[in-house]
Amino acid sequence: MGTPTKTPFLTDVTELRRRAREHMERGAVTAGYAGDVDQAVALLNTALATEIVCVLRYQYHAIMATGIHSEPAKREFAEHAADEQEHATRLAERISQLGGKPDMNPEGLLSRSHSEYANGDTLLEMLRENLVAERIAIDSYREMIQWFAPHDPTTRKLLEEILEKEEEHADDMHGLLQGRG
Ligand SMILES: [Fe+2]
Ligand SMILES: [Fe+2]
Repeated sequence: MGTPTKTPFLTDVTELRRRAREHMERGAVTAGYAGDVDQAVALLNTALATEIVCVLRYQYHAIMATGIHSEPAKREFAEHAADEQEHATRLAERISQLGGKPDMNPEGLLSRSHSEYANGDTLLEMLRENLVAERIAIDSYREMIQWFAPHDPTTRKLLEEILEKEEEHADDMHGLLQGRG
């Protein structure tokens, strides 16, 4: 029996360095990026639009919620608005890392977004609208995670972290709807 040939786990270092230099202008997108970058950027831009719409909706609610039970909800809406803003920033940064352009254009924002923008007139309507939007976000992120999982672990991880937050948001809205402020 001869010595078994070892399959190297990593491409040898010289080859890695050569490939890194080859496409320096492409930033974080190396030749090892197995995904379709354009499609990845397009997908992330739909998530970015969704987050921006969520920021606007929660900010509106944080200001406009009225009524005797509105205080805890207003606080929650303001917190969520800040979380969604953070998600938007992280998605935009990832798009830029992948060599794409984050689409912040207000024109067409709603048609790019997964969720709708609904004001809601009463506190109850606001809570319901937010819960619906969060549930849509949860489903979209789950799907996107599956799409990125085989070829882009960094984006997958980012989306998983955002998804975790959206699940908390949905639970917060559900809780307020059930009167557990
Ligand atoms: Fe979000
Ligand atoms: Fe959310």
